[in-house]
Amino acid sequence: MEAQYSRLRGFSDIYGDDLYYFEVVENTFRKYAKIYGFEEIKLPILERTELFVRGIGEASDIVRKEMFSFDDRGGRNVTMRPEGTACVVRAFLENNFLNDPKYHKLFYSGPMFRAERPQAGRLRQFHQVGVEWFGVDDPIIDFEVMSLLWDFLVEVGIYHRVEIILNSVGCEVCNPSYRVKLQSFFDLHYEEFCDDCKERRKKNILRVFDCKNHSCQLMLKDAPKVKDNLCNVCQYHFDELIRLVSAHNIPFQMDSNLVRGLDYYTRNVFEVRYKGIGAQNAIAGGGRYNNLVSEFGGPKTPGFGFALGVERTILALKDNVEPKKDLSVAVVSVSRNELEFAIKVARIFREKGIRTHLLSYAGGIGKQFKIADKIGVAFTVIIGEEEVRYNRVSVKNMRTGEQFSSQIDEIFGLIFQ
Ligand code: HAM
Repeated sequence: MEAQYSRLRGFSDIYGDDLYYFEVVENTFRKYAKIYGFEEIKLPILERTELFVRGIGEASDIVRKEMFSFDDRGGRNVTMRPEGTACVVRAFLENNFLNDPKYHKLFYSGPMFRAERPQAGRLRQFHQVGVEWFGVDDPIIDFEVMSLLWDFLVEVGIYHRVEIILNSVGCEVCNPSYRVKLQSFFDLHYEEFCDDCKERRKKNILRVFDCKNHSCQLMLKDAPKVKDNLCNVCQYHFDELIRLVSAHNIPFQMDSNLVRGLDYYTRNVFEVRYKGIGAQNAIAGGGRYNNLVSEFGGPKTPGFGFALGVERTILALKDNVEPKKDLSVAVVSVSRNELEFAIKVARIFREKGIRTHLLSYAGGIGKQFKIADKIGVAFTVIIGEEEVRYNRVSVKNMRTGEQFSSQIDEIFGLIFQ
């Protein structure tokens, strides 16, 4: 049967095994965010467009071509959030969290929207989990946040196949002179760069590193690197982070071309890539953003955080771990006469916390067995006239086909040894 309506491209329904992995990612992340002392915040999906234009930057790919923006009924231009950091900063200021240290460490999860060209690992609606830490400009914070992510990767079982890439993008002290150097390099090769890069040159020269064009990438190999032009403070932050992650056995690589696609970053940035899920292999990314709070009108307040893409992490998990199936049972009955007894039996199972499907007697016992088989239950509990009379149940082990009968009270010992 052909459905009358189909999903929009880049949007997905999440169920079955994917949903199982989704919960593993969210629950494990939530566990570690809490263990590390972060407080959860639930944020709106819709925000004023200006928030993202200011926060992520006009020259970024996200703002230039990927936002789902529209005028609302009141004529305000609004955007379905493409990421969480700008929203958290907005909430941090609006709710006066600056004066409440309890809310200096926040975590969030939820859907994000980017109108990118869909492909494996790249969706238009995807999900992120992330943390943001405000108020401390010290590489120990960068290390703590990266440790949280590392603990998560170890627990979900994909740590052995990830690459952690580190770089520093400098700050307002070292960036201006670096930009001049990069501009001079760019101008020497101006005609060879693509039109997008020429546009980036005008708005934010650093964004040329985002270019996917192969010939631009080749030219940029010889470009001056920000990491060779850091001020003393940025250099200290970078060296100290490297010292800490090395000392605590978090593996990493340095890559001076990593600038991240969002304009708010300062000093240390990082990305986690998983080998073996195709071109879209960045499963998480983050870094320091010391000017975003002041950019939004607040006092100068440093920040550091990361976000992990849930769907890409699911692709990595599928590569490594089998989904665990809940043990479940089906209760089937021969006729309407056994209905009350079947309800009672189902309740007994559910009280023990066992996932129980009470099937309708209509259609006969054969049909009920077919359904039980398709659902994939471990045991089917059969109730007929005899069972009701003697307060017993008959049970079929769906894997072995073995069948036996017992008192209700003894059933748990028999099937869940
Ligand atoms: P981001 O690198 O733009 O950073 O996104 C983080 C992660 O979200 C990516 O590594 C990827 O796994 C996932 N992701 C991004 N776009 C898509 C897409 N179209 N489809 C599927 N997954 C996607 C941020 O969003 C920053 N807010 C991270 C951050 C937090 N920096 C500091 N604090």
